[in-house]
Amino acid sequence: MGVQEPVNATAAYSGRGLVFEPPEAFRKRAFISSMEQYRELYERSIKDPEGFWREQAQRITWFEPFHTVKNTSFDPSNLYIRWFEGGKLNAAYNCIDRHLEKRADQVAFYWEPDNPDEEGKAITYRQLYEEVCRLANVLKKHGVKKGDRVTIYLPMIPEAIYAMLACARIGAIHSVVFAGFSPDSLADRILDGEATYLITADEGLRAGRRVPLKRNADQALERCPDVKTVLVVRRTGGDINWVEGRDRWYHEEIQTVSAECPPEVMDAEDPLFFLYTSGSTGKPKGVVHTTGGYLVYASLTHQFVFDYHEGDIYWCAADIGWITGHSYIVYGPLANGVTEVLFEGTPTYPDPSRIWQVVDKYQVNILYTSPTAIRALMREGDEWVKKTSRKSLRLLGTVGEPINPEAWLWYYRVVGEERCPIVDTWWQTETGGIMITPLPGATPLKPGSATLPFFGVQPAIVDNDGNILEGTADGMLVILDSWPGQMRTVYRAHDRFVQTYFTRFPGKYFTGDGARRDEDGYYWIVGRVDDVINVSGHRLGTAEIESALVLHEAVAEAAVVGYPHEIKGQGIYAFVTLKAGYAASDQLRQELIQHVRKVLGPIFTIDLLQFTPALPKTRSGKIMRRILRKIAANEYQDLGDTSTLADPSVVEELVQNRLNR
Ligand code: WT7
Repeated sequence: MGVQEPVNATAAYSGRGLVFEPPEAFRKRAFISSMEQYRELYERSIKDPEGFWREQAQRITWFEPFHTVKNTSFDPSNLYIRWFEGGKLNAAYNCIDRHLEKRADQVAFYWEPDNPDEEGKAITYRQLYEEVCRLANVLKKHGVKKGDRVTIYLPMIPEAIYAMLACARIGAIHSVVFAGFSPDSLADRILDGEATYLITADEGLRAGRRVPLKRNADQALERCPDVKTVLVVRRTGGDINWVEGRDRWYHEEIQTVSAECPPEVMDAEDPLFFLYTSGSTGKPKGVVHTTGGYLVYASLTHQFVFDYHEGDIYWCAADIGWITGHSYIVYGPLANGVTEVLFEGTPTYPDPSRIWQVVDKYQVNILYTSPTAIRALMREGDEWVKKTSRKSLRLLGTVGEPINPEAWLWYYRVVGEERCPIVDTWWQTETGGIMITPLPGATPLKPGSATLPFFGVQPAIVDNDGNILEGTADGMLVILDSWPGQMRTVYRAHDRFVQTYFTRFPGKYFTGDGARRDEDGYYWIVGRVDDVINVSGHRLGTAEIESALVLHEAVAEAAVVGYPHEIKGQGIYAFVTLKAGYAASDQLRQELIQHVRKVLGPIFTIDLLQFTPALPKTRSGKIMRRILRKIAANEYQDLGDTSTLADPSVVEELVQNRLNR
């Protein structure tokens, strides 16, 4: 991005690009404050994982100690992943009860509503305790038992945190469905998870717009007869439909129960939650995380990666509907007894200054957000940032997709005023917590690189045949051994778990990402190498979008690929062939785009939709996506080997009518 010269005292030009050393003031108080310290601890974590993790696990309160630290095998014919076996604990107890002695009156979170003129809330640990216990008792009263599945379809309101922790408290398994998903997507997830209980709200509020959550839920439940109770939070007071006997008001129910509820004693390997994520097949996978290992990992990474100290104000601006919200709004930070911000709104509402105003309002020290948000704010111009103070900020973080150096440097210079290190954290729904990341008091930063592995994480780069590449390398990112936060299985589809992650390179966990390692051993994540695209940090399966398109009566065939998008990272590009009797038109294009939004949810908005008489196929009938990706990226001069095409004229036509110019 044209950056050649060092720009300040902390940036050195190494001959390989810009390098930013940790600011001295930051380093001084950091837990890990030098590369020697990092290396020493890292080496120990790899040479003696049992010893390392036995020690780290002490940060959690166990009702009964574990007898075995690690019992894992990545052999696809005999795969098992178990951590802290024999240990008994409760995640909600760890996030709430154990803090009460010292910090009952400390604010656990400040809730900042969508509309800045609406009054927010400050919830102390004591209040959190009572709210969670009450809700846990409501769930029990409604017959929810340990091991039952509860679907949570809520906006970013305090009740979302209460709901997750109430489930954890009684040993019910929560399955949070992002509030931007459609009724159909919600129904699919309820059915796959065999959930019997749903917690939702009348409506959500985002950027001043109402999201009809209860209406979506009603529609979803037409397909889900096993859901017997729907608990409804009143957020907006908007008009909703009511099903007597099934629907219950949250605010009424919590009045009927006690504010004490003993935590269920859970095994370390009991499931805590599952969360759906897209892969290369049409059906999202229920990624299962268990209790002990997940909590140890979320809490440890939260403390070290964000260098979280007692008294810091922390803000993760993700949504609870994604893993980032699970690990770094709920379980990691609350296990560490933080004070944090829970934000209902969006960074640019009512204006592009909002995020910085919230930082000033709560004196946020640590901010964790996404490259998409940073790029969108950068585009609005520096004045929105500069009119705020931001003096409280000490550390900045990013997650979800590769960050381009230009956006990184803007975040560093304009937002953080060259005072705040940036932690570019690579991880996945499947990994439970951060895997490759700087440690902000130690790691010299390179814009665009997630840098080095966290303790206990052994990344490697392999070629197509699974050979491990040493030194500087370019290939596919795998992880060689288990870590406590790793997913354990795909809900009700263990074969799919083994198949998806452990068979392509037997004995190794395959991330689905391509990556490069440089001369200093730093990792640079290139992006997905499977049919997953990353739109604004949302992981979307192209197969899901294709399936939604062909549901429309006019569509014969569809192929969907990602293409580089200035703000969103990747945009969605769909190639569509029509059935006989249907003609391409702008109106039909709009109809198809709306159709997909309706089937899957508004985050699945196709950016470019090209009608074509045919798709490029091999003689055996396989769609050549590589060619479509090139055309979508407007790299049509360089299509690579096209000799296996059944009909080369198809490509000419596609190039002629390409939409991204
Ligand atoms: C995929 C996982 C982990 C929470 C949010 C996304 C991409 C994630 C980075 C990063 C480059 C990143 C990868 C990964 N990704 N963080 N710092 N740099 N790419 O979770 O929805 O499970 O998506 O997001 O491609 O595989 P997810």
